[in-house]
Amino acid sequence: MEIGSGSGEHGVLVQKRFPGIIWQTSDPELVHRKSISSWIEYEDLTKKMPQPIEIDVEKIPWKIPLILANSLKGIVSINMIHVAEWSCTIAIFRESGKLLNKGQFLILYGLFKICNKHTSGSNYFFDNSLKMQNDLWGIKNL
Ligand SMILES: C[S@@+](CC[C@H](N)C(=O)[O-])C[C@H]1O[C@@H](n2cnc3c(N)ncnc32)[C@H](O)[C@@H]1O
Repeated sequence: MEIGSGSGEHGVLVQKRFPGIIWQTSDPELVHRKSISSWIEYEDLTKKMPQPIEIDVEKIPWKIPLILANSLKGIVSINMIHVAEWSCTIAIFRESGKLLNKGQFLILYGLFKICNKHTSGSNYFFDNSLKMQNDLWGIKNL
């Protein structure tokens, strides 16, 4: 299950690359869920890939279909936590901890600071641009 799938462009790519799994996308924004559905249709994956579900990580407990909860293998979130408040990161860990069992995984992919330092100049500038949009957003310290 993916949190904050955005346009869905990544989701359909992963689904095509890994036909042995079912990639469940999600996003709190209707405009993104519509885009994900369009990508699923465009890539002819409607029989394979479920429609996106609405998850806002802070609206807990996450309402996920029982069939998904029972078949969940892991949770992935790509480029999401830096475009959100710190409370969203905490919510991801809390809710994932409730849904996942031993041996299953939560993967957060994206930009991080290490020892509270940016790992590149471009990350520094990107972080500032995020904070100009919302001062609670920004690259988190790993
Ligand atoms: C920068 S986009 C990344 C989209 C996609 N994962 C990618 O890498 O292209 C951040 C995404 O996080 C989602 N997001 C923001 N706040 C969220 C929240 N509270 N819960 C779940 N998703 C959230 C946004 O709707 C958006 O789709």
